[in-house]
Amino acid sequence: MSDPRPLATAQIDHTALAHNVSVVRSATDDTPIMAVVKADAYGHGELEISRSLLASGVRELGVCTVAEALRLRRGGITAPVLSWLNTIDADLVGAVQADVQVAVASPTMVSALVDAAGAAGRTAVVTVKFDSGLFRNGITADEWPEVLADLVRGERAGALRLHGMMTHFACADQPGDPSIERQAAEFAAAVARAREAGLDPQVLHAANSAATLTRPDLHLDMVRPGIALYGISPMPEVDDFDLRPVMRLSGRLVRVKKARAGERVSYGHTWTVPEDTVLGVVPLGYADGVRRGLSGRFHVRVAGADRPAVGRVCMDQFVVDLGADTTAVEGDEVVLFGDPRRGEPTAQRWADLLDTIGYEMVTGIGSRVTRRHTGGIDGR
Ligand SMILES: Cc1ncc(COP(=O)(O)O)c(C=O)c1O
Repeated sequence: MSDPRPLATAQIDHTALAHNVSVVRSATDDTPIMAVVKADAYGHGELEISRSLLASGVRELGVCTVAEALRLRRGGITAPVLSWLNTIDADLVGAVQADVQVAVASPTMVSALVDAAGAAGRTAVVTVKFDSGLFRNGITADEWPEVLADLVRGERAGALRLHGMMTHFACADQPGDPSIERQAAEFAAAVARAREAGLDPQVLHAANSAATLTRPDLHLDMVRPGIALYGISPMPEVDDFDLRPVMRLSGRLVRVKKARAGERVSYGHTWTVPEDTVLGVVPLGYADGVRRGLSGRFHVRVAGADRPAVGRVCMDQFVVDLGADTTAVEGDEVVLFGDPRRGEPTAQRWADLLDTIGYEMVTGIGSRVTRRHTGGIDGR
């Protein structure tokens, strides 16, 4: 049975999620959306998020591994699912049987998928992940002629059908970076070569959140946003794009205690109480995604006021200075990050403090934190 009053909660607001889908839709003139739900939907809960996104009109889902894709299937998701980061010893037979598209992202994947199709007794529908210049996984321009020949053979044998081609930008979040144009041109050339070879990829996609929100000319047949759907701007220094944070992280005070001036707080005694005050202990730490590098550098929201976190963040807890006149009691809520429209701190603020990106903040929230889904399609 789930704990009705957990100590640490990530509230997942499906109303905000639906709002973010509508932001993407209006930026794309209703171009079909493949929502990226890898890494447990960026830490938000893959099944609940996937169901909700599909109910909001998202057409397809994208994940990294076949294991992630098969979990979606086992959870009852029947929409198209594409998996793009695998070795050839992944459960490819299971994927073909479950109608999961596996991306051809390495030359050896073509024959592995042909074998899997044979074993599954059905045609493997595939998308090629073309490396147009990011230099991660994906087929390079040098590898493309040989892979094309293998794909043509696979299609002739009835083992494969090339359904789509995708690529991924290195610098879509840096508008004007010349690599964006170069990658788009490389991708277009690769698609043209596929057509010359007699293949007919139906669905072309390239745009992550940044390209989705800023480059309508790169939307092609489908957009592939992730972070924007979770309400974090892919380019926070440019715009918030009217996105709303989906995750709100909070904890409940486990201790409230008086501290006299001169007392020293938490590991290493890095903070000394300047004048008599009341301290609160918040039961989230770096094991939960409150990074130790935030020690003494962030504020939390307690009863509508900002309060400083003091001393070192520990594995399971940190201390907040509630102030001498606080009325807070044990069990009260402390908001770590949430919606800036309610005056709450943001995950983006944490990212700025740590010189990183909001993606890392939400995906880093640990499994000990209870996900509480609200505003969902089933009326919770
Ligand atoms: C291949 C691919 N497409 C799309 C995305 C979504 O990117 P973003 O979250 O920046 O929208 C990712 C995430 O990194 C990805 O790996």
